[in-house]
Amino acid sequence: MSDKVSLSLCLNGAEHALTVAPERTLLDVLREDVRATGTRRGCDEGNCGACTVLVDGVPVLSCLTLAVRMRGRAITTVEGVQTGAELHPVQRALVRHGAVQCGFCMSGIVLTAKALLERNPSPTAEEVRQALGSNVCRCSGYARVVEAIVSLGGRP
Ligand code: FES
Repeated sequence: MSDKVSLSLCLNGAEHALTVAPERTLLDVLREDVRATGTRRGCDEGNCGACTVLVDGVPVLSCLTLAVRMRGRAITTVEGVQTGAELHPVQRALVRHGAVQCGFCMSGIVLTAKALLERNPSPTAEEVRQALGSNVCRCSGYARVVEAIVSLGGRP
């Protein structure tokens, strides 16, 4: 086992002082050390997108990312997208459109959609489908997910 190293993780605007083994993934550290369990572990090998977080605003698969590479980066998880008790507009749209089924994939989808809307506020359905290409929904509820995200077009 490798020697542990100190790591200051900037998560949802707060610094977390941690000591981690260098081979541990960001997903492991988020779920097991910080207890930010909104980030899901699906396949654990880069195929499902359930573990998606934002690193400096860009969607990243946390199961394939070493935690120690996150020094100086800003990480956003689903716990960080709400404003107080108010859901993020993407979350509200998904609820409004009945797009949430078992919910397992939703953290990753919310974060991927948030990043998409920040760089393209009015995406077409095809652009939404492309952006969500790495996010697998095991209930296969894609149509309503796309509909919900497209409905936010033009909003901040
Ligand atoms: Fe990371 Fe599936 S858990 S892609």
